[in-house]
Amino acid sequence: MLEVKDIHTYYGLSHVLFGVSIRLKQGEAVCLLGRNGVGKTTTLKSIVGLTPPQSGQILYRGQDISKMPTRKMVAQGIRFVPDDRRIFADLTVRENLEVAQAGVPARGSWTLERVYELFPVLKKYGNRRGGNLSGGEQQMLSIARALLGDPRLLILDEPTEGLAPLIVKELEEQILKLKASGISILLAEQNLKSALTLADRCYILEKGRVQFTGTVEELQENEEVRRKYLSV
Ligand SMILES: Nc1ncnc2c1ncn2[C@@H]1O[C@H](COP(=O)(O)OP(=O)(O)OP(=O)(O)O)[C@@H](O)[C@H]1O
Ligand SMILES: [Mg+2]
Repeated sequence: MLEVKDIHTYYGLSHVLFGVSIRLKQGEAVCLLGRNGVGKTTTLKSIVGLTPPQSGQILYRGQDISKMPTRKMVAQGIRFVPDDRRIFADLTVRENLEVAQAGVPARGSWTLERVYELFPVLKKYGNRRGGNLSGGEQQMLSIARALLGDPRLLILDEPTEGLAPLIVKELEEQILKLKASGISILLAEQNLKSALTLADRCYILEKGRVQFTGTVEELQENEEVRRKYLSV
């Protein structure tokens, strides 16, 4: 479904990704792991065109999207939830969801009702301002907004970052339900436990290069790799 081939990405003159390649099959959940500053976010932003790679290819359902405008990507079913969650702080939860619905050609599989079923708290706090939600609730709202666009591929940047353990567990269960519903998921994580819970396969980045790739079982068995590249 997604094939990232040998991409090199820069911020100005600063070379950040050195030939990163990633594959994700339909229905799979794949996790990018690695310490601070290794290039996880840059890889995700390269895929969705926010920091377009200077070389390499990005194929989505067989089509090269490396020069596709973000708007068109959204229409193709790619949704990115950034690490800063970017909701409208001054709008209510319901308004945040309505804005997300506007302008999306309704393929109809993700309705407000279905979103509320997955995230009951968003129904309960419908009149609350986005800025007054807890971190976990904001993350749920942010994912809910992406779902209303009916994604085939959901890209999540550190969804569990900074959240309390109970909320992390709840969010993990919700993301697993999304996966079970057939949405393909690419996520970046620093939290190894979340990665092992959510993903089928992992890629570990270090200084802008992929240093390990394997199933979560292979990672679980490989203490040396975990010690070398992850903060555990
Ligand atoms: N806007 C930017 N301008 C210049 N350099 C940047 C910019 N954003 C990130 N970088 C640099 O690119 C490298 C990769 O950063 P990136 O944010 O992709 O890492 P990350 O793995 O997502 O880290 P984190 O765990 O902190 O989220 C880092 O060295 C970082 O300092
Ligand atoms: Mg990051």
